[in-house]
Amino acid sequence: MSDLTQEKSRSAAPPARAEKRVHIKSFGCQMNVYDATRMADVLAPEGYAETDNAAEADLVILNTCHIREKAAEKVYSELGRLRVIKDERAEQGLSTMLTVAGCVAQAEGAEIMRRAPVVDVVVGPQSYHRLPTLIDQARTKRRAIDTDFPEEDKFDHLPGPSRQVIARRGASAFLTVQEGCDKFCTFCVVPYTRGAEVSRPVERILAEARELAAAGVREVTLIGQNVNAYHGRGPDGTDWTLAHLARAVAEVPGIARIRYSTSHPRDMDDDLIALHRDLAAFMPYLHLPVQSGADRILAAMNRKHTADDYRRIIDRVRQARPDIALSSDFIVGFPGETEADFNETMRLVADIGFASAFSFKYSARPGTPAADMADKVPEAEASARLSALQALLTEQQKAFNAASVGRTVDVLFEKAGRHPGQIAGKSPYLQAVQVNGPAALVGTIAPVRLTGIATFSLFGDLINTPEPAANLGMETHA
Ligand code: SAH
Ligand code: SF4
Ligand code: F3S
Repeated sequence: MSDLTQEKSRSAAPPARAEKRVHIKSFGCQMNVYDATRMADVLAPEGYAETDNAAEADLVILNTCHIREKAAEKVYSELGRLRVIKDERAEQGLSTMLTVAGCVAQAEGAEIMRRAPVVDVVVGPQSYHRLPTLIDQARTKRRAIDTDFPEEDKFDHLPGPSRQVIARRGASAFLTVQEGCDKFCTFCVVPYTRGAEVSRPVERILAEARELAAAGVREVTLIGQNVNAYHGRGPDGTDWTLAHLARAVAEVPGIARIRYSTSHPRDMDDDLIALHRDLAAFMPYLHLPVQSGADRILAAMNRKHTADDYRRIIDRVRQARPDIALSSDFIVGFPGETEADFNETMRLVADIGFASAFSFKYSARPGTPAADMADKVPEAEASARLSALQALLTEQQKAFNAASVGRTVDVLFEKAGRHPGQIAGKSPYLQAVQVNGPAALVGTIAPVRLTGIATFSLFGDLINTPEPAANLGMETHA
């Protein structure tokens, strides 16, 4: 289809065809999940509605992750699959615009253009507010790439969250408050793909929180690559901390729960820790990546704290909120990691006791300092360590869930459950909970007595069925 006919069909088509469809597939972290919603917000005024089915999409966006080699490689296998869909649609006279966004686009945009002629647009994480222009450009000139770190802030150019987009996402939403990273851990690509650390101004965040709440969101997770380093400009002209910001978000009517992710141990300040005691809306859950329990490895990673520093932070957090659920990230097989170092990691895990965790085999990333470090750990060794660590972490997660049985917790219901008549939601400790209950409760918070565990989720019974409106803000410490 030529550019002209496509332009014409936009205005002259019958109503049923006036709507275009976009399919966005995200990999990677919560930031990408948030970015996907914001790309949908940018595209909604252009007439794009979201679809879960790539085969019916006029525009497909792969929102990619560069953090580990496996994640980055997915792009090319996905592109192979999408090429088939694009060809099939072309046979039916339908055009498909293929966009690669996210961190692989940022890191390898030019190479993607070279290796994958099927791609029409490449856009980095700081430029997706320009998607409509890039799509238009690709339509007329074929193929467009934008991986700049533009002078302007994309957040100043993004529309407010669209109701249609929020409605698809439900009762819990991410809200980016800080982006980028200046910490330069030696294994990590994020400072290169996301750029320098920037905090959004308080007023903009509160406006977004109010819009989310008005559309039915009850829980916001304030996200950033280093969210507890937040230092955005407040309405009073001073820089606010994350604790200060969280207190203001808690004032937004309708917002009953606040979470934050991901934090760095170095930025766990006293105010933030105290908030776990003082602010009822602050959920008793902390994701605080430690990566390793060995000081030698932590130093080589440039984490700038020791294992005992981490233990002390956790002690303080637990003093403030004894029931807090702890979570972390771990890397095994970092260059130079000995069996003794790995045992230090196992000892740290055993000492602390995590409610959940993510663990990864070290993956050498191009351009990062660790990629050139000597003493690579053999693959088999790294795999064995990962299995041992994951076995311990899984055991701890099961123990944490088992200990919840018999307790009553407030559950935010987010969606229909696995079986008819069931609804599913999250406990304050971020556990997945299923109950038998009416779909009308989705989007509300209700007390549930936990009765049993499955592998990674819990079952429970509704204690009563309060009026949804009476429920707002009624978050109790379990
Ligand atoms: N900003 C967060 C983490 C972002 S990346 C923080 O500083 O904690 C998410 C997780 O991916 C990291 O915590 C780390 O455990 C893992 N990761 C990052 N780079 C990696 C690499 N090269 N190999 C393996 N795992 C990695
Ligand atoms: Fe990566 Fe470290 Fe920054 Fe986290 S703190 S994003 S691991 S460089
Ligand atoms: Fe991946 Fe980029 Fe997030 S590399 S983990 S999508 S910041």
